[in-house]
Parts: sequence; structure tokens; C-alpha cells
Amino acid sequence: MYYRRHLEDRLTGPVSRNKVRLLFGARQTGKTWLLRRLLAGQDTRAFDLQDTAVRRRFEADPATFSREVRALPRSATSVVLDEIQRFPPCWTRSSVCTMPRLPAGSST
Ligand SMILES: Nc1ncnc2c1ncn2[C@@H]1O[C@H](COP(=O)(O)OP(=O)(O)OP(=O)(O)O)[C@@H](O)[C@H]1O
Ligand SMILES: [Mg+2]
Repeated sequence: MYYRRHLEDRLTGPVSRNKVRLLFGARQTGKTWLLRRLLAGQDTRAFDLQDTAVRRRFEADPATFSREVRALPRSATSVVLDEIQRFPPCWTRSSVCTMPRLPAGSST
């Protein structure tokens, strides 16, 4: 059973197009579920930085993140970084600047 969240419309609506959105919240309040629900069926690239293998790949070469985002197909509408606090270099301006080339969509 999925309970609809008020944030859904704001994250998917025009106001979020070509924007970086940060979703903060206390533990176990449904952040990951919300993002998965919103992005299911969209052409989205999700990085789960809780996944040790993903984190190790980025730690080995911090430029990997930007490279992978730049390599996304034109059809990609959103990039999701879950648990972004686990890999601070993803916050840098150069990483974020790779995203505006993406067409309309919600980035979180
Ligand atoms: N919209 C929802 N409707 C119903 N159940 C939900 C919903 N969102 C979350 N839950 C329940 O709450 C649990 C925790 O959700 P989730 O893992 O998304 O939280 P989180 O905020 O990402 O947690 P963490 O801070 O630990 O990463 C889920 O396993 C699910 O059982
Ligand atoms: Mg989570």
C-alpha cells in the first residue's frame, strides 16, 4: 500500500523542470520510496550511494559521476542521487553543471 505524498506534484510539476531538488527528511520517512514511485517508468538514472559498489566506483575516480551523467541518452529526464551525503563530491558545482543539458524533468 502506497500513501500519496503532498510533495509528489511539486517534484514532478513544471516548477521543478531543469532544477536540482534536495529532499531532506528524518530517517525512515519515505524519501526513497517517494523518489522510486515518482520516477518509475520515466527514463531516469538513479544512483544509490548507499550501495558500496557504487560509492567505491565514485571514490576511485570522483570524475566518474560527471562522466556518467554526461553520457546519458538525450531521452533521460532525471538524475536521482539517493544518500548523496555519503559522497560529497556529487554536490560540487561542476557535477551539478552537467545536469542542465537534460531535458525537462525533476532532478533531486
Ligand atoms: N508513501 C508511502 N506509503 C506507504 N509506505 C511507505 C511510504 N513511504 C515509505 N513507506 C514505508 O516506510 C519505509 C521507509 O521508507 P524509505 O526507505 O523510503 O524511507 P527513507 O526516508 O528513505 O529512509 P532512510 O532515511 O533510512 O533512507 C518503507 O520501507 C515503507 O515500508
Ligand atoms: Mg532512503
